[in-house]
Order: sequence, then C-alpha cells, then structure tokens
Amino acid sequence: MTQPNPYQQQWPGQPAAQQWPEQPAPAPVVAGWDDPNRGGWDTPTAAWSTPPSRARVTQPRSGEHLLDVRDLRVEFDTRDGVARVVNGVSFHVDPGETLAILGESGSGKSVTAQAVMGILDTPPAVVRGGQVLFGGEDLLTVSPDRRRQVRGQEIAMVFQDALSALNPVFPVGWQISEALRSRRGIGKADARRRAIELMDMVQIPASADRVDDYPHEFSGGMRQRVMIAMALAMRPKVLIADEPTTALDVTVQAQIMDLLATLRAELEMALILITHDLGVVADVADRITVMYAGRVVEQADVHTLYASPAHPYTRGLLASVPRLDHRGHGLHSISGTPPNPTAIPDGCAFHPRCPWAQQMCRMTSPALTRIGRLDRASACHFPPEALDARLA
Ligand SMILES: Nc1ncnc2c1ncn2[C@@H]1O[C@H](COP(=O)(O)OP(=O)(O)O)[C@@H](O)[C@H]1O
Ligand code: SF4
Ligand SMILES: [Mg+2]
Repeated sequence: MTQPNPYQQQWPGQPAAQQWPEQPAPAPVVAGWDDPNRGGWDTPTAAWSTPPSRARVTQPRSGEHLLDVRDLRVEFDTRDGVARVVNGVSFHVDPGETLAILGESGSGKSVTAQAVMGILDTPPAVVRGGQVLFGGEDLLTVSPDRRRQVRGQEIAMVFQDALSALNPVFPVGWQISEALRSRRGIGKADARRRAIELMDMVQIPASADRVDDYPHEFSGGMRQRVMIAMALAMRPKVLIADEPTTALDVTVQAQIMDLLATLRAELEMALILITHDLGVVADVADRITVMYAGRVVEQADVHTLYASPAHPYTRGLLASVPRLDHRGHGLHSISGTPPNPTAIPDGCAFHPRCPWAQQMCRMTSPALTRIGRLDRASACHFPPEALDARLA
C-alpha cells in the first residue's frame, strides 16, 4: 500500500519541480601529461630521507567527543564587504559514526570543513571564533607543527573533484603512498606494496597492474577511490568527504557511498559526509546537521530527520527528494536562492524563502533549540507541531 508522502504534505504552496538534476561527469583532462618533469616511482624526493614521525595518537577521553566543533565563525574580507560565511556552527562526531552535513550550495559547508582541516587561505578568510576540539585539544590554538601532524594523519579529507586534486604527472600508487613516504619515511618498495594494499581496500580491481597508471587512465569513480585510498593511507581517525560523489553518475555515487560506509565500519573511523543532496546520505548517515547561510538550522538522527523534519528548510529539502513510492507525484522545490553572505537578512536568514514566515521571523534570529529528545534541535521560532497546525 502506498504511504502518504509526509514531506510533500509539510511543504505548502510550492511549485512542482519535475526533474532530479544529475551532475554530468567532468570531462577528462590530462593537463601536464607531456610535462618533461613528470615524475614516477623513481623520482627522487627529499621525503625519502625523512625519519618516521612519532605520531601522537589521539583518542577521545571519556565524556568528550572525538571531534567537537563549537561555535565556529569564519568571515572573508571581500570587495563587497565582510562575507559572514560560517556563523556559529557546532557539531560533533565520534569513532565509528557518520555525520552528514547538508545544505544547498553556498551554505558554508566546505569553508567549515576547511577550517576544521586548517587549510583555509588566511587572508582572505579569518577565523573569528570558536573551537575545533580534537580529542579535547583545540586545533585552532595549537602550534603549526601540531596542526600539520593532525592534518592528513589524524583528520583527512576527500574532495569533490578527484581529477584536479590528483597530480596528473605522477602514477596513482606513488600519490597514494606519498604521505607514507614523506611522513613515515618508508622505502619505495614498501610504499608501493602499501599502495597496492590500499587500492585493494578501496576495491580498485587489478590493483597490482594499475598501481603505476596515471590518473587520466582511471574512470571518475575509480579516481575517487584513489582519492579515498590516499586519504586513508595514514589511517586517520576522522575522514571528511566533501561532496565526494557530486561529479559521478548515480550508480557510481551509490557504490562510493557504500564503500565509505564499509570503510568507516571496518576502520572504526568517524566519517563526516558533506553534501547538498539528502538523497545520497539517507542510507549511510547516523546523524544529520543541516546548514543554511552559515548556521546550523536543524540537527537530528537520520531517522527522525526523515520522518519528522522540524525546520521549514529541512522540510523543503526533503520535499525535493524523489521517492520511489511516489512516482507520478510532482517534486517541490524551495523558491528563491540562499542569501549572499555579505548581506544575510536580519532575523531568521531563511525568512524570505519560508512559507511559514511571520513578522517576528524578520526581526529576531531564532536560536538552535533542543526539541524533546536529546541531540535533536531546530533553529525556528516555531516548534514542529505549530508548523503542522498551520498546514491543517
Ligand atoms: N575565498 C573566498 N573568498 C570570498 N568568499 C568566499 C571564499 N570562499 C568561499 N566564499 C564564500 O563562502 C560561501 C560558502 O562557501 P562554501 O563553504 O564553499 O559553500 P558550500 O560548500 O556549502 O557550497 C560562498 O558562497 C562564498 O560566497
Ligand atoms: S523562524 Fe520563521 S522564517 Fe525562520 S524557518 Fe522558522 S518560520 Fe520560517
Ligand atoms: Mg562545498
């Protein structure tokens, strides 16, 4: 029996959006392929002589989260004024857990991740406040050496565009094992062996035959697996995957998500999945943090968020996710576009797009407020029952 679609019921008066946009795969680029300086397994590097680092092993102490981001604020100085891109974002993640950070393009997800990784260009970015606690240690205040040690070794990141993130002039195995050579000082033969093992781990077929191939010789999905292998080389405790499947077709998207979920479980990592697409994380996320205009507007476990989204923005996002049990029903989309971070509206930043908006929404910014159960919260002046009542 077909169930009514709660999301469509909860999103009033929006025009139907008829199609589910798919992102085209990026065109293959082989920039630098003819570069006479291109390297390979025999390329000498100063890193060969680097002694193994005595990496400090970070574990969460009891009662604290492995990674705990608190009230993070990031601004950019731009010609149009100050862009307030991350405005007090908080979230946490623990070993073996998957947190999805969800929001439309421009909501500050990548800048948040870059601030956590310590890879923001400053200037123009300025971290105005907050804490990034990793095993209780605030990464925003540690020494540059400690920051470098954590980055890549303990917290690693996979980017959306594997083709531009990989160096076209080095074999993939060489790139996968780069960190092992430079940071752990392991020799070439061992590094190559480890690269093959890592390629096996991310399920790249015929890894021993392909370890010396170049990035352009791989498909988009296989290149993303190479990126994941590279990120996992140092066995990080936290893996941040920023739109890891956006450039891939839907079948490959699902395979990469399955792979990430499997690796997260096998390696007992904390996984942070950043996406604009709620559809791709439904099966793999444990908890979801929804961002809008650089703020967290809703956070909940994945089941609660899908079954009873509290915030109007989340309801709008869910109404635009196609459902197999609702063929023939039109999809809804949220009207308008996210605000420019140099001109975020007063009051609730979502009010120009929100069908529930009232006068108070234009005046006062709603705080992220806990709803009933622990660890579920929404930044809306109205509780979900009040929103539902206004639909009736
Ligand atoms: N280098 C930069 N200079 C100025 N503004 C930037 C810069 N990088 C990002 N931004 C601003 O931050 C906003 C959020 O960016 P981003 O975190 O990449 O969004 P998301 O990942 O959610 O799509 C962008 O809309 C842009 O206005
Ligand atoms: S506070 Fe008002 S404008 Fe903002 S989401 Fe809630 S109802 Fe909509
Ligand atoms: Mg992004």
